[in-house]
Amino acid sequence: MDIEELLGRMTPAEKAGQLTQYFYFTLPDTGDTEPAPGVDREEQPHAVEAALARGGAGSLLFVTDPAETNRLQRLALEGGGVPLLFGFDVIHGLRTIFPVPIAMAASWDTDLIERGQAVAAREARAVGIHLTFAPMVDIARDPRWGRIIEGAGEDPFLGAAVAAAQVRGFQRDLIAGPKHFAGYGAAVGGRDYDEANISEYELWNVYFEPFRAAVEAGAGNIMTAYMDLNGVPASGSHWLFTTVLRDTWGFRGFVVSDANAVRNLVTHGFAKDLPDAAARAVTAGVDLEMAISDPAYDHLPDTDVPADVIDTAVRRILEAKQRLGLFDNPYVDEDLARVTLADPAHREAAREAAQRSAVLLRNEGGLLPLAPDRSVAVIGPLADSKRDTLGPWVFDFDLDETVTVLDGIRRVAGDRVTYARGIPVAQRVFPSMFDMFGGNRPEDPEGFDADAAFAEAVEVATAADVAVVVLGEWQNMIGEAASRSSLDPPGRQLDLLKAVVATGTPTVLLLMNGRPLDLRWAAAHVPAILDIWYPGTQGGNAVADLLFGAVSPGGKLPFSWPRTVGQIPMTYSHTVSHEPQNQARRYWDEESTPLFPFGHGLSYGRFGYSDLTATVDGDDVRVSVTVTNTSGVTAPEVVQLYLHQRHGRASRPVRELKGFRRVVLDGGASERVEFAVTPEHRSYWHAAVRDRVLDDSVFDVYVGGDSTASLATTFEITTPG
Ligand code: NOJ
Repeated sequence: MDIEELLGRMTPAEKAGQLTQYFYFTLPDTGDTEPAPGVDREEQPHAVEAALARGGAGSLLFVTDPAETNRLQRLALEGGGVPLLFGFDVIHGLRTIFPVPIAMAASWDTDLIERGQAVAAREARAVGIHLTFAPMVDIARDPRWGRIIEGAGEDPFLGAAVAAAQVRGFQRDLIAGPKHFAGYGAAVGGRDYDEANISEYELWNVYFEPFRAAVEAGAGNIMTAYMDLNGVPASGSHWLFTTVLRDTWGFRGFVVSDANAVRNLVTHGFAKDLPDAAARAVTAGVDLEMAISDPAYDHLPDTDVPADVIDTAVRRILEAKQRLGLFDNPYVDEDLARVTLADPAHREAAREAAQRSAVLLRNEGGLLPLAPDRSVAVIGPLADSKRDTLGPWVFDFDLDETVTVLDGIRRVAGDRVTYARGIPVAQRVFPSMFDMFGGNRPEDPEGFDADAAFAEAVEVATAADVAVVVLGEWQNMIGEAASRSSLDPPGRQLDLLKAVVATGTPTVLLLMNGRPLDLRWAAAHVPAILDIWYPGTQGGNAVADLLFGAVSPGGKLPFSWPRTVGQIPMTYSHTVSHEPQNQARRYWDEESTPLFPFGHGLSYGRFGYSDLTATVDGDDVRVSVTVTNTSGVTAPEVVQLYLHQRHGRASRPVRELKGFRRVVLDGGASERVEFAVTPEHRSYWHAAVRDRVLDDSVFDVYVGGDSTASLATTFEITTPG
């Protein structure tokens, strides 16, 4: 297809259409909820189909049925003649659901992460999807914010590595759309969609880093963010989408707005009306408007936006379609789609991912792995909830093939397993905007007696050799529009845990969560705690593999786990200031250290670190360390390198992650692990210079199994002359 020739033939209305992406809802009507504010469930598909017939839509989102993508594609080709680009939130799998993104990040295994998103992309492309609104690469240092679950946590270096791996995986078959540019994770108070005020120093050094890495990895798309960033709505920011993204980083793909975010420029009190919103967004560099209904970009032909600005945006969309081969091959093979979705290799990959993402927070007395012949009481409301096992941000899952924790344990321990659900997660049902997708509301049967169920759970625990208690949050208590003001395990779950521990039966706590919860009591009284997150389709099998020792856990926390909500926001990567000797006692009533540090995670092995060296060679530094598995079992370890600059033009954090490597060592084995510390690792963005700088300085290097690593060495960099 000759894109310039096509562009030359298009009318202004058709061009505006190419720049419009409509939601197309073909979702089950669950009765009491609307699909989205202001959307008529009956009318919306007709309105979209009418737009397709007149060439008034370039892209659709939320269609996952291959027969439907083909039907709608045909309508578009018969209408405007330009193929549609189908987008969807393929966040952690399409049919095969992988652990939630924060869990995948906890694997610290970029190869695993890349392979996982490649599976997701393969399934998505098979049904006709071309663009995923993922990865979400927003740094999150406030776990009240529910969307912490969608990202890689608090750290820019880990976040950048995970972002790049996801882009590589997705882009084997799709266009990846890292989001939400930029600063969304810093919403004040952790309240979703609220404004973010972030210094430029922090933007460049922390919040931008995963985006920069995603762009370098070749991401074809970027999504805007909903909130005001430093007083300007991100979705209308020329600085973000032109100065930073294109002029500084050389991004060559297209930008999509978040849903209704162009219209929202009016809501923000920024744009005067919809034509003004459209003009300001497209001029800022927002090429495609994602619209639930009534797009602002419909008004583009009536604005005075120069024709070449519009043409540039349209060209970017057409080029993306060209690169995807849609002009030659717009349809999918529906039979092949069915086969691809059922691929057993995809389930195997999901099981491995769930094994590697679990984080063993505590294992006193070696309670785990469990001995094979013991009777096990499985307790808790989340132990047998298929929907919760999958986590949020999935829509095309198959509940029938979802393996819960109870299923997984039963497959190994058979009739040695007893089960009691105990109490519901929470007393109150939390309404979620995702309820419209069905299957989200755990209801109690009529006449349910919570006290009796609680007592039964305690009895079951008393009678067993080991109790495995599964606690956490319902999956719809976390994610978009699911912030919390407290980190307490909801409802009476903590009481249930206390009652089970009080029976004297050795207790293992499994956590299903996407944010850290207040575990102060559990960390002092429960011998074994394994964070399994929302582990996905194969979750239960993977959890059983871990519990019974077929594989060792080896995940590491991608965030600092606070003791209490009052410590938020917190990061290991803070600076030193007045009275550093009191740094751990900054509060009158609580320590200021986390309950579990960033990078923490145990395994069934035990690791020692020795012989740390740093050798300067010009601008580069080579760091080596010997890692030894001092236990008798094969186990994984993530070796982490942290850097600290002692003096310079800015006060730099006490330590920053600058390298990590996952190794698997047999019992008794040692390995020499090497890292390169390059000028890139030492550089940082300086507000006065308005660019990245390198300081001559003395640097401390810490290497170990978490961010409190004590094995240290130093090196000095002096620039000659
Ligand atoms: C709004 C969310 O903020 C964004 O992340 C998502 O991709 C879109 N809705 C589409 O579902």
